[in-house]
Amino acid sequence: MADTLTITDNRTGKTYDLPITDGAIRALDLKKIKTDAPGDTGLLTYDPACMNTAACRSCITYIDGDQGILLYRGYPIEQLAEQSTYLETAYLILNGELPTGNALQDWTYQIMMHTMVHENIKKFMEGFTYDAHPMGVFVSTVAAMSTFYSDGKLIFDTDRRKLQILRLIAKTPTIAAYAFRHSIGRPYVYPDNDLGFTGNFLNMLFKMTELKYQPNPALERALDVLFILHADHEQNCSTSTMRGIGSSHADPYSALAGAAAALYGPLHGGANEAVLRMLQEIGSVANIPAFIKRVKAGDGRLMGFGHRIYKSYDPRAKIIKKTAYEVFEVTGKNPLLDIALELERIALEDDYFVTRKLYPNVDFYSGLIYQAMNFPSDMFAVLFAIARTVGWVAQWEEMLLDTEQKIFRPRQIYAGAGHRDYVPMAKR
Ligand code: CMC
Repeated sequence: MADTLTITDNRTGKTYDLPITDGAIRALDLKKIKTDAPGDTGLLTYDPACMNTAACRSCITYIDGDQGILLYRGYPIEQLAEQSTYLETAYLILNGELPTGNALQDWTYQIMMHTMVHENIKKFMEGFTYDAHPMGVFVSTVAAMSTFYSDGKLIFDTDRRKLQILRLIAKTPTIAAYAFRHSIGRPYVYPDNDLGFTGNFLNMLFKMTELKYQPNPALERALDVLFILHADHEQNCSTSTMRGIGSSHADPYSALAGAAAALYGPLHGGANEAVLRMLQEIGSVANIPAFIKRVKAGDGRLMGFGHRIYKSYDPRAKIIKKTAYEVFEVTGKNPLLDIALELERIALEDDYFVTRKLYPNVDFYSGLIYQAMNFPSDMFAVLFAIARTVGWVAQWEEMLLDTEQKIFRPRQIYAGAGHRDYVPMAKR
C-alpha cells in the first residue's frame, strides 16, 4: 500500500496524490490544488493555534500525550528524575547523548565558570521598583544581556554559539536570584561555584550572614528534580516563540527573553502561581464542590488541570506529587495539600473532567513544593524559566542548523474589508 493521500478537488474534478511521510503531508504540496479563479494561489491549511500542524523536525523531546510518555533524547523522564541531575540532563538535551564522566566534569566546570553576571547588570536591575514582578525583571534583564554580549549576534559561528548557550544556562539562575533578592530588598549574593548548579542557586537566593551557605541536601535534590522535569517539552508556546524569534536570526538573548515572556502567561508557566492563588481562594476542603460547580458552569478554570498534548496524567505531575511528600518531610506539610488532593480526587471522578480528558499537569503540585521551600508565588514562573533555558537553547540551535527552516511566517485567511477608497475627514 502506497504512503500517499489521494485528494479529489470537487471544485475542479481533479485528483492529486500527495506523499505521506512520518504521518504527515506537506502543506506546500497543497499549493498545487487550485482552481482557475483569479488570485487563487492554491489550497491552504487553516489551523489556528497550530492544533494539528508540525512546524519542524526535532530529535530532542518525544511526547505521547495519550499514554503519558515523555522522553528526552529517548530517555524516560522517570529514569532521568530518579538517576540523573539537572546539569547532566542539560548536557543530554543539548548534545543528544549522556556525557562520560570526564565530559560531565568539564561541562559542569564550564557552566560554573560562567555564573557571574556583569556588575552593570546589577545596576540595571536596581532600576526596577521594589514590587516589580520577578518574571518581568527576568524577561527584561535577559533581553538586556544582548547589549552586554555583542558576539551573541554571531549565531553561525559554532564556538560563539556554544559560548552564548553556556552563558545563558549559567547566568539565568544568577539573574533569577538577583530578581528575587531585589523584590525582598536584600543584598545580592555572588555565586559560590564550589556548590553545584542547584546548591549555588539556593545560596544566591537564601544566604544571609553565614560565611558559607549549606543547602539542605533533600531540598537541593528536590529542586534539581523539578529542574529536570521542566527542562524541555517540545514545541510548546514559549519554545515555539524561541524558534520563531530565532528564525529571524536575532541573537539568543533577545530570542530567550521573548520565550520567557511567552512563559509568563497564566496558561503556560504562570499556571502554578495561578494554582496556588486558586487553592488559597478555595480556602477549605468544604468549599471544593461549589468551586467545581463554578468551573463546570464556565466561570474560571481548574488551574493546573488540562493540557494541549497530554490526554492522560502528565508523567511530570506524578513525579512532582511524589517529590512533594519528600519536601514536606523536611519543611512540614503545606496546608494547601489537603485541598489539592481532594480537588484532584473529585475532578478525576467528575464527568466534565473525565470526558474532556483533563488531568493534573506539571503545575498542579509544583507550586505547593515551591511555597514550602519559601519561594514567593511570583518566583514560580522564574524557576520554570531557569530550567527551560536549556530546552529553549537546544531547540533554537536545532532550528538554526535545520536546512529546511526559514524565517517563521504563517499565512492568514483575510476576513477584513474589501478594497475601498479613502474617505476625507469632512465626509465621514
Ligand atoms: N478547567 C476547566 N475546563 C478546562 C480546563 C481547565 N483547566 N482546561 C480545559 N478545559 C475545557 C475547556 O473549557 C474546553 O471545554 P469545551 O470543550 O466544553 O469548550 C475543553 O476543556 C478543551 O479545552 P481547550 O481550552 O480547548 O484546550 P487547550 O488545549 O486549548 O488548552 C490548556 C490547554 C493547558 C491551556 C488548558 O487546559 C488550560 O487552560 N488549563 C489551565 C491552565 C494550566 O494549568 N496551564 C498549564 C499547562 S501545563 C504547563 C505548560 O505547558 O506551561
